[in-house]
Amino acid sequence: MCGIVGYTGQCDAVETLLNGLKRLEYRGYDSAGIAVTNEQSGLQMLKTAGTVDTLEEKIQREWPTSPDQRFTSGIGHTRWATHGAPSDINAHPHLDGSGHIAVVHNGIIENHKDIHSHLEELGHTFSSETDTEVLAHLIQECYEGELLQAVCAALQKVEGAYGIAVLTDYEPEKLIVARHGSPIVLGVNDNAAMVASDAPALVTFTRRVIYLQDNDVAVVQPNDITIRNVNNVPVRREISHLDWDVTAAQKGGYEHFMLKEIYEQPESLQNTVGGRLDWDLGTAVLAGLNVTPRDIADIQRVILLACGTSLHAGLVGSFYLQDIADIPAQAEQAGEFRYRNPIITTDDLVVAVSQSGETADTLAAVREAKHKGALVSGICNVVGSSIARETERGVYLHAGPEIGVASTKAFTSQVAVMLMLALKMGRCRRLSRRHGDALCRAISTIPEAIQAVVEKDREIAEVAQKFKDLRSCFYIGRGYAYPVALEGALKLKEISYLHAEGYHAAELKHGPIALLQEDVPVVAIMTDMPGKEKTVSNVRECQARYSPVLGVRTEGDEDTADIADYEISLPDVSHYISPITTTVALQLFAYHVARLRGCDIDKPRNLAKSVTVE
Ligand code: M6R
Repeated sequence: MCGIVGYTGQCDAVETLLNGLKRLEYRGYDSAGIAVTNEQSGLQMLKTAGTVDTLEEKIQREWPTSPDQRFTSGIGHTRWATHGAPSDINAHPHLDGSGHIAVVHNGIIENHKDIHSHLEELGHTFSSETDTEVLAHLIQECYEGELLQAVCAALQKVEGAYGIAVLTDYEPEKLIVARHGSPIVLGVNDNAAMVASDAPALVTFTRRVIYLQDNDVAVVQPNDITIRNVNNVPVRREISHLDWDVTAAQKGGYEHFMLKEIYEQPESLQNTVGGRLDWDLGTAVLAGLNVTPRDIADIQRVILLACGTSLHAGLVGSFYLQDIADIPAQAEQAGEFRYRNPIITTDDLVVAVSQSGETADTLAAVREAKHKGALVSGICNVVGSSIARETERGVYLHAGPEIGVASTKAFTSQVAVMLMLALKMGRCRRLSRRHGDALCRAISTIPEAIQAVVEKDREIAEVAQKFKDLRSCFYIGRGYAYPVALEGALKLKEISYLHAEGYHAAELKHGPIALLQEDVPVVAIMTDMPGKEKTVSNVRECQARYSPVLGVRTEGDEDTADIADYEISLPDVSHYISPITTTVALQLFAYHVARLRGCDIDKPRNLAKSVTVE
């Protein structure tokens, strides 16, 4: 949930770390800090509650630049608080008791209380409420003259999840980094090396990267990187090429990453579906799934595991799989999955859906499903992420880096992948060639349809103006529009802080209708698809309670004309494609409401991009 960077080389470490942290701020932004060193100056640290900009101002005030005091190694962190409130003291890095060892950490040390008590008995005193400070003191306690040995010894006593970077002025040209459950990637360059929790921090530094695997510990020096496991046994890790465009990690003239990513969807969806349709057989080609037609014929059920927006995409996927592939399918909240003793059989296909590929609950659910013998696959965006690696088979989204905390382009690509999954599975089962062809045609129109929705931006912004002062609202839909209602409401609440609930349109009168009144609007998704007439009846019920209704409808559809008080009209597309078009419209609606309310759209309060704690 937080961002880590580290650097060792000949350049100015302070500047390099700040640049890296700025690229990682979407990971957490309640406090930030750096620790740096060189051959002469000992270990220096500055940290603060607030953003990376606050840290930069503090550095300019407190560390006036001096040509004699250039730091060439350092570590930095931008935090999303787990242990202890966001404050100067709780910000990372954390020092050991001697002030010679600094640690930045993502994840949670679960046995930190036991280690804390033990270290207190040995005379250690602590200034913060964090588990990370406990780790720094533990490394000090294990130190016998070599940082690598101390870190390995300390990590052997630690339970929980971590991605860490450690710096000491005893060995100033060296960083020790390690991962167990929280990602660390190394950037390789000539005469310098950089480390980070996420690749976007590295894109301007190098394209040559090494993804650490769980239990790896790396010694990172300007001209040398060696990797071993916590038991000190050397391991080999391949260098991968980061094929992201540098501009993908920049705003490129847009006011917010979220808006940029909404606008990118015609292209990101083209990248998701491009080359994956087999027009000869009327099916989809998902090579990474690595399943034979015989395997598919044997699958009795599909379980989609995910959290948040990815769960909503999973719900759309479960509808596709039942409708198109004729196979029982269910989307499940990954956070609950392993705690309720799920009944899994070897005939089940479990699909983990995750943009980041690092969500702790989804990863744990994957492990449970694997343990119970299911065929487990992943639908991830981040290449080489933990879920992608643990599932060993799956489909990448190819949507490009998603920086905005509110997920947008990942959702639409996830839905497109699930439609292709249903097509592929359907064609291996009972779906006819004719239906397969029709679906291929529908899928190939997605980028163009989304372009048409994006072009309605100004119109949607005008509608948003009418809703910017609402207190609370409901989103309703049926069938494919139901997960869209959930996703539309989630988008609005996370970036505008307005209370919004997504409901199945039929559920409204089973309770929530009691809340409807003049100042509680309803967003009704009633595009042209099965069940639309019933949603129209529900709209009338809402209006009878004086709720203003915003109808999201299909252009030219007479059944929904002149019904809603306000409307967003979208292009006429196959009902299989409409979850994508309608969601993009609702992303724009949420974006404009939040913008008009003056919210910090790319840094919504209390949120972080990837949730690597339970
Ligand atoms: O990286 P993942 O897709 O696994 O993340 C799951 C959720 O944390 C994520 O979708 C979250 O709900 C977003 N903030 C939604 O915009």
